Amino acid sequence: VTVSSTLDRPRAPHGLNGLVVADTALGDVRGQEGFFHYRQYSGVDLAEHRSFEDVWALMIDTELPTDDRFSREVRSLRDIPAEILALLPHLAATSLSATDQLRSALSLLAGSLHLNAITDLTPSQRRHDVLRLGATLPVLAAALHRHRHGLAPVPPRHDLGHAANYLWMLNGTEPDTRHASAVEQYLILTIDHGFNNSTFTVRSVISTGADMGAAMLAGFGALTGPRHGGALSRSLDVLDAVTAAGDVTTWIRGELAAGRRIMGFGHAVYRTTDPRSEHLKSVALGLDTPRARLAVEIEQSILDELAAARPDRKLYANVEFYAGAVLESAGIPRELFMSMFTISRIIGWGAHALEQATDSKLIRPDAQYVGPPPPQPVWG
Ligand SMILES: CC(C)(COP(=O)(O)OP(=O)(O)OC[C@H]1O[C@@H](n2cnc3c(N)ncnc32)[C@H](O)[C@@H]1OP(=O)(O)O)[C@@H](O)C(=O)NCCC(=O)NCCS
Repeated sequence: VTVSSTLDRPRAPHGLNGLVVADTALGDVRGQEGFFHYRQYSGVDLAEHRSFEDVWALMIDTELPTDDRFSREVRSLRDIPAEILALLPHLAATSLSATDQLRSALSLLAGSLHLNAITDLTPSQRRHDVLRLGATLPVLAAALHRHRHGLAPVPPRHDLGHAANYLWMLNGTEPDTRHASAVEQYLILTIDHGFNNSTFTVRSVISTGADMGAAMLAGFGALTGPRHGGALSRSLDVLDAVTAAGDVTTWIRGELAAGRRIMGFGHAVYRTTDPRSEHLKSVALGLDTPRARLAVEIEQSILDELAAARPDRKLYANVEFYAGAVLESAGIPRELFMSMFTISRIIGWGAHALEQATDSKLIRPDAQYVGPPPPQPVWG
């Protein structure tokens, strides 16, 4: 933090990078070590050994559950109000992208639930709102997808966990256990990730006292940016482009010469391997589809070329590089990738929103005015 000479106000570093702006008990990312955790547990250990609902409970209720009460609670919250169900076919018939349809549906749903400003709610009412939004987002995503393809929505099944139920609602067939496990691990790995941009956005909105729906929608918008979560399907474009070019080296040299960034590589915090990417690589290898094999094959060539282009700044594959290959191999259509990320991250947003709601301070920073000196005359 440096102090501006003219106005004597402390100046935050560019992009607020490295500046601590809140306390959280929800987790952190250690960029130098390549480690991230949810509360006191390694994110990768949780993905390997626990269910999505267990990790959801950990984030919301502070502890890993020892029984199925939380899981039964969230499964009972999947119902969508009839007035919103009736709107979904109309929304699905519009020219809006799958992501924009889901964001709009979430907005409609939040409105229909008549969520109150968090300043007017008890902690248990806020918790309920957060769980409701997390439980219903996959139902909206799957129903919209089926409407877009001229199919009737498949109602949620209360005997299935979050990931398996999502696949069930998408396809209307018994989910393949390997696919459900791959999707579940992806979802767990992407629930939260330190004080990322969409999380900060959510917490900023909550500090105004707005309702949980408004906060989740703001987070949704932030996540869609290509520098944040919007690179997920673009990383599959990399696999397509390499396949079309026939040779990874030629393709990547052309991209770098044109000054383009390679999607699925580089990270704002990790200065070593991204543990999520490493874990998803093993999931991809387990699924053993041609696409997953291609991703593994070309990763090293891309890294070699990036290292040759920027010897001073070593880059690694990030979560999105393997996430695309894993999701596609598990049968998730590319148009739904962004929705998948929101389905997991809304759990992290909800946990952060509940934490932020305990602080009554409005987040309201300053900017330094750099335009022409005011006041200038506004008349002739
Ligand atoms: C994620 C990302 C925004 C992180 O940015 P960052 O830490 O701020 O990194 P910087 O922008 O400081 O980049 C450092 C240098 O490495 C280069 N670089 C970073 N990521 C790169 C990539 N994917 N391909 C090529 N070059 C890259 C930048 O061009 C930059 O060089 P410059 O300073 O000459 O512009 C960036 O790596 C990126 O755009 N990646 C591609 C998009 C993506 O995969 N996003 C998902 C993130 S999980």
